[in-house]
Amino acid sequence: APPAIIAPSILSADFADLGADCARTIKQGADWLHVDIMDGHFVPNLTFGPPVVVKIRSHVDRPTQSLGKGTFDCHMMIAEPKKWVTEFKKAGCDLYCFHYEAASSSAASSPEGQSELKTSPRELIRYIHDNGMLAGIAIKPGTKVDVLWDVLDSPNEKERPDMVLVMTVEPGFGGQKFMASELPKVEALRQRYPDLNIEVDGGLGPGTIDQAADAGANVIVAGSAVFGAKDPAEVIALLREAVDK
Ligand code: DX5
Ligand code: ZN
Repeated sequence: APPAIIAPSILSADFADLGADCARTIKQGADWLHVDIMDGHFVPNLTFGPPVVVKIRSHVDRPTQSLGKGTFDCHMMIAEPKKWVTEFKKAGCDLYCFHYEAASSSAASSPEGQSELKTSPRELIRYIHDNGMLAGIAIKPGTKVDVLWDVLDSPNEKERPDMVLVMTVEPGFGGQKFMASELPKVEALRQRYPDLNIEVDGGLGPGTIDQAADAGANVIVAGSAVFGAKDPAEVIALLREAVDK
């Protein structure tokens, strides 16, 4: 598996002091910032939009290489992922990770006259790449991993994702219980794609990292476990060691 990438979810940061909290977690050893964008529609919660991303971007150095330190990993829990691609690029997003469920259902749910928002996962990945960002594709607990083979096996490099996100909780809130039932998806992905960046998100921390690492995950999101820790640097180091061991 590729090396560990630790991505604290800023959903558990101090929203009144977000810039400082983001800069601090990078200093404490984090690789990326996991930025949870929720629209109150795809998930039953709201977070923030591009103006906030612009502000935190000014507190964190841009990555000097693809997937490098300071990468903004934007987890787009939104019903219309295509609509926000250009705005998030402008705001400072590096990796735009949309939900398969939103992309695949948008054709059915878009009102008449919104046809420019209709898109397939392959088309959306190409569109994200054409806009100068890396592309991720996420699946919720209810979604079978098999739906990802189509993009991962695409003969066109532009249509293949740079990362896959396997949710280990129902998206929407931090601090939920880790669902080990999702790990067979990670195992299946790792078996087929030894070099793929596989991210897990939800309920990760010192008590659950070994299971996730053994399954083959290498990109680790942790919100409450990092921001709620007495010593966040120690937790970040522990997560990294568990993956790289
Ligand atoms: C949940 C978000 C997660 C969340 C994880 O919908 O996608 O990124 O912040 O929080 P923890 O690590 O506390 O489960
Ligand atoms: Zn997330």
